[in-house]
Amino acid sequence: MTLAQRWQRASPVQRVFIAPGAFLALIAVLIVGLVTIELIAAPAIFQRAEALNDAQKPSAELVQRGEYLAKVGNCAACHTARGGQPFAGGKAIHTPFGAVYTSNITPDTTHGIGRWSAQAFYRAMHEGRSADGRLLTPAFPYPNYTHVSREDSDALYAYFMHGVPSVAQPNRAHELGFPYNTQLALAVWRLLFFDKAQPNNAPEIVAAPAIFQGSGGLKDMQNAALTARGEYLVRGLGHCSACHAQRNALGATINDQLLSGALMPMQDWYAPSLMDPRQAGVMHWPTQDVVALLKTGVAPNASMAGPMAEVVSKSTQYWSDADLQATAAYLQSLPQTTAPARDKPRVNPQFYARGEQLFAKHCASCHGTQGEGAKVEGSVALPALAGNRAVTMPTAANLVRILLAGGYAPSTAGNPRPFGMPPFVHVLNDEDIAAVTTYIRAAWGNQADAVSAADVLQHRKGLLP
Ligand code: HEC
Ligand code: HEC
Ligand code: HEC
Repeated sequence: MTLAQRWQRASPVQRVFIAPGAFLALIAVLIVGLVTIELIAAPAIFQRAEALNDAQKPSAELVQRGEYLAKVGNCAACHTARGGQPFAGGKAIHTPFGAVYTSNITPDTTHGIGRWSAQAFYRAMHEGRSADGRLLTPAFPYPNYTHVSREDSDALYAYFMHGVPSVAQPNRAHELGFPYNTQLALAVWRLLFFDKAQPNNAPEIVAAPAIFQGSGGLKDMQNAALTARGEYLVRGLGHCSACHAQRNALGATINDQLLSGALMPMQDWYAPSLMDPRQAGVMHWPTQDVVALLKTGVAPNASMAGPMAEVVSKSTQYWSDADLQATAAYLQSLPQTTAPARDKPRVNPQFYARGEQLFAKHCASCHGTQGEGAKVEGSVALPALAGNRAVTMPTAANLVRILLAGGYAPSTAGNPRPFGMPPFVHVLNDEDIAAVTTYIRAAWGNQADAVSAADVLQHRKGLLP
């Protein structure tokens, strides 16, 4: 439990019983002590003088396993800059506190991690400390990777040391504002919001012997094992909570298991709730549709867009079928937040009629006059808008974003040539966009609130540099 959580859980009586002055002093002393420990307990003992030599080469299987896990963890999404060498870092991650630049994690002995031991690598993943003891910023999702097992960390290490070419590219200094650029601030942040996980083993999916199949108890055990594996992937390497969980003002996820949806910091995209069937919850879907969505980026009535399309194209499309089944099992086991019953929203009929006209002119040729979408060669090529949660979600941020900027579903082996959605930023004005979104949110049985031109303007501002 983090310090912030302990404080929240302390009974109100305990919290108010001490005089405020004494209490603050006590807290101050405690914090100074703990922060000091955090800052000085950082031995830089994990560096080797030499790079690894060939005699220490791990097995090809281990390197291969590490390569797979690097895809699962989507390391390349952050550590490979656009047009840059694989894993040489230098990509800016924009946070509300300034820009953080990713590190060179190739085996280069000067600029990369070529002198790191497996222990140092595990410490970075598990505790968010660099080999020299420096505290790392949580823009590196170690609050998730802390759940990764030592065994998986070692496989990743084997891959980065032996499967990735070294690149002599220096690291770039972060551009964080004061005080966020200090180790002291990080120490305090970690004290409040970061708890390293208990070292654990990765749950594996064990196939039940054929003779036992069908027997109730064993099936349950198998399902439990599947869900546990899914949880391990979603919480750990998959770092789904990095986008799908809410953050507090200091950028910490409030609870990484509460995947209740969040506006992504610095990007005008909303990562919908995985616990709400009206948003991104998949508890009522056939399992194979969940697997298809993560593997190919499309499923009946859904298609991945924006930052999620990137997650699919760089990561989940490569997950093994067993791991996708496990992830689906976990996502389907998430507690469901019950949506309150609601009245049919009232829509201004003139606005609706204007939206209907615009839809017929600009959209129906692709999405169908009834918003039914279209399949090409058996797979979803043009998403249906009727009954599509991306259209009816309470937050219209993604919808406006897609209309303004267009986009592609991810290109995957299962859907190699996705059709594109053209941008309408220069075709339709804010009023038009508001009318057409209002229309698609209320037509064909869809029931979602109207969108105003002011809403659109707000998202447009997020879009233009
Ligand atoms: C969401 C972006 C993101 C993802 C995904 C990510 N990293 Fe990073 N990583 C960072 C950032 C940013 C830093 C720099 C942190 C700092 O310097 O404070 C970093 C730093 C590191 C470091 C420390 C390097 C050093 O010199 O101290 C290691 C090791 C590392 N990442 C490994 C990985 C691995 C392995 C994966 C995939 C399993 C991964 N990262 C995925 C953003 C990311
Ligand atoms: C970089 C941020 C990010 C990460 C990491 C991320 N997501 Fe998403 N996700 C989004 C956004 C934004 C959307 C909304 C856009 C869309 O619907 O495609 C979304 C949508 C979804 C949807 C709903 C798709 C639909 O249209 O019904 C599912 C399911 C989902 N994500 C699952 C996951 C899982 C599982 C993981 C972890 C393996 C994950 N996401 C990781 C940002 C992210
Ligand atoms: C040339 C064909 C084409 C036209 C014209 C077009 N779209 Fe699309 N639209 C697409 C494709 C392809 C996608 C899938 C892109 C993706 O997943 O990123 C899409 C995605 C969408 C989505 C997101 C669906 C989801 O599941 O994430 C919405 C909403 C949408 N379009 C609305 C509209 C509206 C409204 C118009 C008219 C103003 C329009 N489209 C015009 C092809 C088109």
